[in-house]
Amino acid sequence: MSHAISPTESQPLENLDEVEDFMKERYPENESLVGTNPNKKEEQFRDYEHTARPSVREFYRLNHLYQSFDFVQEKRREFLPRSRREMSIWEALEFLNTLVDDSDPDTDLSQLDHLLQTAEQIRKDGHPRWFILTGLIHDLGKILCLYGEPQWAVVGDTFPVGCAYSDKIVFPKFFAENPDSQNPLYQTRLGIYEENKGLDSVTMSWGHDEYLYHVTKDYLPEEALYMIRYHSFYPAHRDGAYSYLMNDQDRKMFDWVRKFNPYDLYTKSHTRPNLKELRPFYDDLISEYFPPTLKW
Ligand SMILES: [Fe+2]
Repeated sequence: MSHAISPTESQPLENLDEVEDFMKERYPENESLVGTNPNKKEEQFRDYEHTARPSVREFYRLNHLYQSFDFVQEKRREFLPRSRREMSIWEALEFLNTLVDDSDPDTDLSQLDHLLQTAEQIRKDGHPRWFILTGLIHDLGKILCLYGEPQWAVVGDTFPVGCAYSDKIVFPKFFAENPDSQNPLYQTRLGIYEENKGLDSVTMSWGHDEYLYHVTKDYLPEEALYMIRYHSFYPAHRDGAYSYLMNDQDRKMFDWVRKFNPYDLYTKSHTRPNLKELRPFYDDLISEYFPPTLKW
């Protein structure tokens, strides 16, 4: 059974890739290191916003409107006990694969195809086995969509809640409508947090990153967990925002988040990976790190 996405008022995207395509424009491949382009001006950021398609603009409007501190707490209470399903990693991959969009199935690749492409590119570049595995599973948290969650509570770049919004976050003006904007406690530089205390003490906007981090946190090396938990934290890993919330360990581990980002954002090709050929390699890899089933 497949679950087709069709746009509605609360689900503006026809295809989750619309947000990723937007991010590729916003964060071009040749500028993948923080601070490599000191000439980039504020107006150029605005350009990305002006040329964004209406569905993507609406997606970010809803995201910035509803992702308040209280909303995130509610979602954490709802999903972090992980009492919905007990599945293997491969079952979760197949479950995610039932999420399809409205475009032509002959030319469009599935969620699993995209994840295999990401993992295969990491493998070709000679990275460690846990890195390859992270490429395969990093978006499994998107099964939140299949639980009926709105797109703006699953994908998109993430940001801390409970402190001031960085102007490095896309479409910053949409935060004006977020109830937290009226709460002075949440609108200072540090908000409810302490300087350099570390990201583990910071609550991020809710989405697939944080959810999958909790599913996998007992089984993967710390580097992999940072990649999973913060791969959508673009304001930090691409633009250097919120460094004052990080501790030294975060800064060290963000090298890995940055190493992972190009595989996440730029490896999509139109060639469908040969699942049958690849399956034994990935079955071995999954069982090397994970138990037969996990709580989702
Ligand atoms: Fe992702």
